[in-house]
Amino acid sequence: MSYGPAANAAIAKQLIELFPDGAELDADGQLLVGGCRLSELAESFGTPLYVVDERSLRDRAQRFRDALSERWPNSRVVFASKAFPCAAVLRLFAGEGLGFDVAGGGELAIALAAGVDPATVVLHGNAKTEDELRMAVEAGVGTVVIDNHDDVDRLERLAPDGQHVLIRYLPDVRPDTHEAISTGQAGSKFGLARGDALAAIARVRTSGRLVLDGLHVHIGSQILDTEPFARAVAAVAELGKFDVYDLGGGVGARYTYAERPPTVERWIDVLTEAARAHLPADARLMVEPGRRLVARSGVTLYRVTTVKRGEPTFVAVDGGMGDNLDVALYGQRFEATVVDRVGGGAPVELVGRHCESGDRLVSGVALRDPQPGDVVAMPVTGAYCYTMANNYNGALRPPVVFCAGGDARLVVRRETHADLLARTLEPQLL
Ligand SMILES: Cc1ncc(COP(=O)(O)O)c(C=O)c1O
Repeated sequence: MSYGPAANAAIAKQLIELFPDGAELDADGQLLVGGCRLSELAESFGTPLYVVDERSLRDRAQRFRDALSERWPNSRVVFASKAFPCAAVLRLFAGEGLGFDVAGGGELAIALAAGVDPATVVLHGNAKTEDELRMAVEAGVGTVVIDNHDDVDRLERLAPDGQHVLIRYLPDVRPDTHEAISTGQAGSKFGLARGDALAAIARVRTSGRLVLDGLHVHIGSQILDTEPFARAVAAVAELGKFDVYDLGGGVGARYTYAERPPTVERWIDVLTEAARAHLPADARLMVEPGRRLVARSGVTLYRVTTVKRGEPTFVAVDGGMGDNLDVALYGQRFEATVVDRVGGGAPVELVGRHCESGDRLVSGVALRDPQPGDVVAMPVTGAYCYTMANNYNGALRPPVVFCAGGDARLVVRRETHADLLARTLEPQLL
């Protein structure tokens, strides 16, 4: 398939809309993010490479923060750090006044290393260990979310007097998203259903040690419809009146041309309207977005290693499911482009380097005249890609580069073969 220059330009425009705000084509047709030429970033830092547009991250944080505080002043936006557990990202968000959701000791360690105020940290987890709870209370974590009765037992033993807690309610709301990232339906492993939640509430209320601030609810991730969020707020109200409600995250990001998630403001409208209808007017609200705060600020760069022409044509790159598990785990669709020939071209199978046929980054994506050595960019990879990077086939986890105003700085270095072997104790060859 080949298009004329006007059609290519139209396709390029549509594609650039998936990249961070401010992404544009240079006079010679090269794609720029944060003012940096992507081809030059690939040259300087190597590939695969996670590129983050710093201004876009900041803008997104401000947008969530302002949207919530304008509609519900007694509130806080908490970044679900699992979406991009990188100290530089957390530090930037802390500077914008966000709090942090950490799921376990590792994410807490990252948050503390980033210098965030522990009082703004919310500790989650359906299987928190005693060590993790001890670490959290010793660090002065502001809020612990109780997911089960064993959390109450452990906190009664470990927590200092006056430890603030929320109880995670399982509201029996099933959003329309991939099953693996749906968490609000009956039968989910997360939270406590009505009877158990009421028992935990009664128990914590009589605790001399724990202070029950309120309830938490989170129904899942990559949710494109707003209606289930309103239902979850109504459901949580049935458990009584509390001072604090953490309404979770889950609002979806736009990965493809077809997807139309709600705007940030629309999502906050739905939550706060439901809160006005069902929750006490003086309650403190928290929301916990992860994906939507970071997804579109990130771009992954790969270098094409080989093009196998035929039916179909395979364009293989030097990364894959080692740096992006979203495709294999949830069937997430992405788009992609060659960075200096944006728009147009014939559909190809963009595949990774790993030893599985399922290692297919994008199926049927149009790339214009792909050649070995080309740099390919995949937009909307800021969420959960860095998170789930792994060493499959000995892949070295990619670095993270922040770009702003034409300058690029490395905030996470590339893994090395020495890193790969660093934990190996046997055989005694090292
Ligand atoms: C408790 C909790 N809060 C918030 C989030 C963030 O969800 P998302 O990244 O979809 O906004 C998650 C992730 O699923 C979660 O488990």
